[in-house]
Amino acid sequence: MTETELILNKSSMLEEVKSGLFQQQKSLPSKFFYDERGSKLFNDITELDEYYPTRTERKILEDNIEEIAKYLGKKVLLIEPGSGSSSKTKILLSNMQNICCYIPMDISGDYLNKVAEQLRTEYPNIQILPLSADYTKPFDLPKSSPDARKVVFYPGSTIGNFKMEKVQQFLKVIHDIIGKDGAFLIGVDLKKDIEVLKAAYNDSKSITAEFNKNILNHLNEELGLSFNPNLFDHKAIWNEEKGRIEMHLFVKEDHSVTVDDKVIDFIKGESIHTENSHKYSLNEFADMVSNWFDVKKVWTDEKDFFSLQYLEPK
Ligand SMILES: C[S@@+](CC[C@H](N)C(=O)[O-])C[C@H]1O[C@@H](n2cnc3c(N)ncnc32)[C@H](O)[C@@H]1O
Repeated sequence: MTETELILNKSSMLEEVKSGLFQQQKSLPSKFFYDERGSKLFNDITELDEYYPTRTERKILEDNIEEIAKYLGKKVLLIEPGSGSSSKTKILLSNMQNICCYIPMDISGDYLNKVAEQLRTEYPNIQILPLSADYTKPFDLPKSSPDARKVVFYPGSTIGNFKMEKVQQFLKVIHDIIGKDGAFLIGVDLKKDIEVLKAAYNDSKSITAEFNKNILNHLNEELGLSFNPNLFDHKAIWNEEKGRIEMHLFVKEDHSVTVDDKVIDFIKGESIHTENSHKYSLNEFADMVSNWFDVKKVWTDEKDFFSLQYLEPK
C-alpha cells in the first residue's frame, strides 16, 4: 500500500468510527476486529468446544468434496472475500484438481500476506494472488486465467455479519464479479436452539471476550485513540426479532474518550454494538438472495446446524 493509500485508509476508518460512536446506540463496524491479533484470536475461537460453526462447516466440506468439485466445474478461479487463515479453503485446494488460481482477499493485510506465502509453498501448482482490500468498498481483482470459471467461496457464515440493508449491495458485488457463468459457494449458519447460539458466542475461556475487546486495541493503535478495554464487558445476546446474535461491549463505569477532537461520553450500562451474526432458515436465505442468485444445491450436517450452499447467478 502506498503512503497516500494508507492515509486515505486511516481517514476513512476514522470517519466510520465517528459515525458509529455518535449514534444513540453506539456501534463499530465488525471489520475493525481484524488486525493481526484479531485474526489470531478469531482462529482460537474456531477451535473452542462451544463454537460449532467451523468444525461443522469443515465436516460438510470434507464429506461432500467430490460432489462440490463437480458443481464447481472443470477450471476454477477461486476468490475468497475475508479469507483469514484460508484453513477451510485448504480442503478445496488439497482435494480438487480443477482449481488453477486462488485469490484470498482480506482487510488484515499482514496476516493475509503471511498466509499467502505458506499457501504458495503448500500448493506450488496453484497460482496464489492475495488481495489486501475491504470488500465492502469497490475493488479490482488481479488479472489471471480469463478462461477459468469465477467461483466466489464465502464460508464461515460471514454473510450473517451484514445488516439486512447492506447485504443486497454485497450480493450485487458478488453477482457482478463472477459474471453470468460463475458460481457462489457460501457457508450459511442456520437457526437453532438459542442456548447453543449463546454458548457459542459467550465461551467459557473468554476468548470471544478478548476478540471483542481487541477492536478497541486496534482503534487505539491505528488511530491513536485511548480506549481502556478494561472498562468494558463483553456480552453476546440473542435478538429474536432480528434473528441474530449481537455482540456488545458494555460500559462498566462512566468515562470519556476523545476521537478527532470530539469528546465521547460512555455511560455505565450502555453498550457499543460490535457485531451481528444473523441465523437463517433455508427458506429465509433463499428469499434473501433471490434478487441475484438461485440456490441450486444445499449440503447440511446431521443436526442441521449449518449449511453449505451452491448458488448460480440469475
Ligand atoms: C469470520 S472471519 C472468517 C475467515 C474464514 N473465511 C473462515 O470462514 O474461517 C472473517 C474474515 O474476514 C475478514 N474481513 C472482515 N471484514 C472484511 C472486509 N470488509 N473486507 C475484507 N476482509 C474482511 C477478516 O479480516 C477475517 O479474516
